[in-house]
Amino acid sequence: MTQGAEEISIVSRKEPGEDKTLDASLRPHTWNDYIGQDAIKKNLAISLEAARRRNEPLEHILFYGPAGLGKTTLAHLIAKEMGAAIRVTSGPAIERVGDLASILTNLIPGDILFIDEIHRLNKLVEEILYPAMESRSLDIIIGKGPSARILQLDLPPFTLLAATTRIALLSSPLRSRFSGGTYRLSFYTQQDIERIIARSAAILNVAIEPVAITELALRSRATPRVANRLLKRCRDYADVRGNGVITADGSHDALELLEIDNRGLEPSDRRILEALIFKHNGGPVGVQTLAASTSEEIETIEEVYEPYLLQLGFIERTPRGRVVTAHAYEHLGLPLPTTMQETLL
Ligand code: ADE
Repeated sequence: MTQGAEEISIVSRKEPGEDKTLDASLRPHTWNDYIGQDAIKKNLAISLEAARRRNEPLEHILFYGPAGLGKTTLAHLIAKEMGAAIRVTSGPAIERVGDLASILTNLIPGDILFIDEIHRLNKLVEEILYPAMESRSLDIIIGKGPSARILQLDLPPFTLLAATTRIALLSSPLRSRFSGGTYRLSFYTQQDIERIIARSAAILNVAIEPVAITELALRSRATPRVANRLLKRCRDYADVRGNGVITADGSHDALELLEIDNRGLEPSDRRILEALIFKHNGGPVGVQTLAASTSEEIETIEEVYEPYLLQLGFIERTPRGRVVTAHAYEHLGLPLPTTMQETLL
């Protein structure tokens, strides 16, 4: 990679606690502010404490799970807990081997490197990462053919934290190098989402009725990022159409206007279900065909729509493709096909 301005676009370095690019005000800034994912937090707390006591960097850790559940937030909190600077980049931003070499050689001891969307690293770059993770060694091949040589550089002690929405796309050599653990973030409980909304409302300094919190949480797809987005839309509505307080009626009206239904489905989710039902007879249908018939990207279906529809039990994945379930028919208010009549009993 060339030096200078280009570097800024592939990696940004933040001192402990510094956080300008994220939806900064609503993100938890301390370990205790982070609601939910209790089992992961407990395990991480032990790893952090052990690393601190031994005065060693934390081992490399991989987070996976649907978007918006707090993988990046956890990485920032870990850096803060370790008193380390975090350097943030992403799989698609690291195009060439030289890009990664530059990032790695610019690390200072104890730094945390966070690679988001690590499943999108290209193979050549990934291979440079193996020795870097395993033995802090940067192996660069110089020249070609018989005269090629390997230049080996020592790297400072560092921790790689990585996140992906698509763990299955990671090669097993890469997965196996996360010696500090691989953690799957889960969808949040209704109670935890309600706590997050109450906390965010307090930060935004907006009054919200308890019933409105419940209503918003129900429609937040069990996902903090969605909860915070909907809260802000309801605050806008309350400011423009009401007296600034998010009431039960106001939040209901705002969410209806956004066409978000009582399970958090948006028009695009419903389009997927309707395509499955009306165009593909309820399935099974392959994701490629479904993508073509809904004019969506395959990745968007797999990463955005499917995880939550699966979580709700509205679709299932079978070896022959996606199938819609009786619960989806019921939710959409459609009559059950006769072949499904028993499944809802
Ligand atoms: N905002 C986004 N994710 C959060 C979480 N897990 N806890 C508290 N606030 C959040």
